[in-house]
Amino acid sequence: MPSLEFDLEAALAQPYPGLRSFEPLESFIFFGRRSQINELLRRLSRGRMLAVVGTSGSGKSSLVRAGLLPALYRGHLAGSGSTWRVAIMRPGGGPLDKLADALVAEELFAASQREEVRKTIGMTSLGLVDAIQKSKLGRREALLILVDQFEELFRFRAEHAGSDGTTEVSLFVAALLEAIDQVERPIYVVLTMRSDFLVDCAEFAGLPEALNRNQYLVPRMTRNDRQEAIEGPLRVAGANISARLVQRVLNDAGDDPDQLPILQHALLATYRAWKKRGGQGDIDLADYEAAGTLVDAINRDAQSLLDDIPAEDRKIAERIFRCLTSMEGGRAVRRAARFAKILGVIGASGDSSLRGKAEGIVRRFTSEGRSFLILPPGTQIADDCVVDITHESLIRKWSTLRDWAEREADSADWYRSVVRDAKLYQAGRSGVWRNPGLKEALRLRREDWNTAWSEQYGGGFDAATKFLETSKVKRRRNRILLCAAGIFVFTGAAAGYGKYRYDLYQDKVTELSLQQKVTNATDQVAEATNRTRVLEAELSTKLDPAEKKALQQQLDEQTKQLALLKQQSQTATQQLASHNGDQASKDMLLKQAYSQIDSLRAQVGALRQGQCAAGYVPRNAVAGDRVCVAQAVADQVTADNQQAAERRAGSGPYGADTCKQGFVWREATPGDHVCVLPSVRDQAAMDNRQAQFRLAAGASAAAK
Ligand SMILES: Nc1ncnc2c1ncn2[C@@H]1O[C@H](COP(=O)(O)OP(=O)(O)O)[C@@H](O)[C@H]1O
Ligand SMILES: [Mg+2]
Repeated sequence: MPSLEFDLEAALAQPYPGLRSFEPLESFIFFGRRSQINELLRRLSRGRMLAVVGTSGSGKSSLVRAGLLPALYRGHLAGSGSTWRVAIMRPGGGPLDKLADALVAEELFAASQREEVRKTIGMTSLGLVDAIQKSKLGRREALLILVDQFEELFRFRAEHAGSDGTTEVSLFVAALLEAIDQVERPIYVVLTMRSDFLVDCAEFAGLPEALNRNQYLVPRMTRNDRQEAIEGPLRVAGANISARLVQRVLNDAGDDPDQLPILQHALLATYRAWKKRGGQGDIDLADYEAAGTLVDAINRDAQSLLDDIPAEDRKIAERIFRCLTSMEGGRAVRRAARFAKILGVIGASGDSSLRGKAEGIVRRFTSEGRSFLILPPGTQIADDCVVDITHESLIRKWSTLRDWAEREADSADWYRSVVRDAKLYQAGRSGVWRNPGLKEALRLRREDWNTAWSEQYGGGFDAATKFLETSKVKRRRNRILLCAAGIFVFTGAAAGYGKYRYDLYQDKVTELSLQQKVTNATDQVAEATNRTRVLEAELSTKLDPAEKKALQQQLDEQTKQLALLKQQSQTATQQLASHNGDQASKDMLLKQAYSQIDSLRAQVGALRQGQCAAGYVPRNAVAGDRVCVAQAVADQVTADNQQAAERRAGSGPYGADTCKQGFVWREATPGDHVCVLPSVRDQAAMDNRQAQFRLAAGASAAAK
């Protein structure tokens, strides 16, 4: 008999196992599978290997454990005695290790021989047969090796692809095939497997043939079978269920592929609710409703267990459950894990307080009646204890766990991408990561990833970390370069801006002085012409030859002077005309320069994604604006604005000391005080004096 701790009292107190499978000693509450058990016996008498396949939750494990095994013990297998040894194992934790453990647990070997047995079965495919030859298997005894959840082999192989996973799995399969092929000892192999993994079995030599010879697809339980499964255990426990509740439950179960586990959990919760209200009378609709019905019983129970954990420890629960799920073909599935691995992933290795908390959480979810997690029997949770989610329907029905599983799968995807790109980067075939991907990867590394966690996804944590650190350093360097580029562009723009404003001022000064020059020259020509005319008139009136000669000399001088002045006036007029032409083209250039500054500013703004670096302040920013300018420009603009405001307000006077050197106020309107350079001011004073002189000269000429 398999060594199982069994408590009849407890079994009768809770006549449904809930999410977990039925165990061999629970055949007295196992109903609804009579014809299937007979069929299994018939097939096993035909061949030494039998594969029981079906969908997840279709009842494979229960059918074999609580149906087939008790029938074997009772001697129902034709051609075989009733003395059976049954080594039950699940291969997920390492098939050869688990096989050795199962043989020792069935007392075919002493515990002290465990390592030796493991070594023997790990040597060649004949190792298992060799080991059994030397075991305590009696002459009249038959051995059945039950490999439950055979599909775990494929996950084990994938997760240990880097080490010897593939060899170990192949050796294990070959050893099973050798064991059923030899005739010296009656060794049988029964395996249960999810039907969607059948195709993976084709990879092993000899296995497809063996499976083809003897395979049993577990049928769905009929409505009658299910009715038996609901009512039978209660009869055993001495309770009764109302006919209307039976019908309601059968109707509610409908065609849900998870109907068996959900049904089990809801029935158990209903039974507990009935007990809670006194355990009197029939179990009825009120109890079923109180339990949350088929729809919500699992979600409600699991969530209430989680909610009872102190808020600060719920993250630990999340991480434990995430260790126990993975994504296969887009579907969340369970994945068993050793407790030591879980401790590593949650960062509790060597931390006794965290370990204590993790143990408490695992225990909470394995309590009878709420067996959402499954542990090997025993009181201690040792490092090599394998922890597992009892049934995948828990992932589908408990919404929080579904979210966690998706988060885990997402985190694993990110991790794989980082590892892949780290390798490409190392080989010089790809660059580093940038934001926003880098930011997300760094967050996940902080929250989820560590060496133990990464082992689940092929390892490489150190290389991934190095790659992310390199990406981080490069990102920072790029940022600094970008800032520097921004500062450079703005400083250039500011310098350009200042220069253009100065040039503009110079243009104005030149224009003013040229205009003045033209006016002066014109005035001087007019004056000289007048004088010439006065001399000519005077000459015509003189009769004395000596006086005449002297006047003629004066007139010649005056005429020469007039010609010179006329030429100067012409030059000045030409200079003014060409200056005005220049200015028009300069205005054009200025416009272009401003638009260039604007475009540079826009470019930098875009480059810097709206963020201002240190040294930049918003210029004339209004709410919502994100404009960056260099500090120097900001200061200058502030000062200009202040001057302009003061000028407008008329709060002068504005001498050379208060006006900014080299700048004119471009927005000046008539009546404004304008800041000018001292030289301009002096020129203006001189102009004014000249004007006064001309006015005075004009007045005296008119008087003459
Ligand atoms: N004959 C049955 N009657 C009632 N519930 C069953 C029966 N067989 C299995 N179950 C329940 O169905 C669920 C899945 O059973 P299990 O044997 O673990 O299925 P599988 O191995 O196919 O995943 C468990 O909750 C189990 O208690
Ligand atoms: Mg199973």
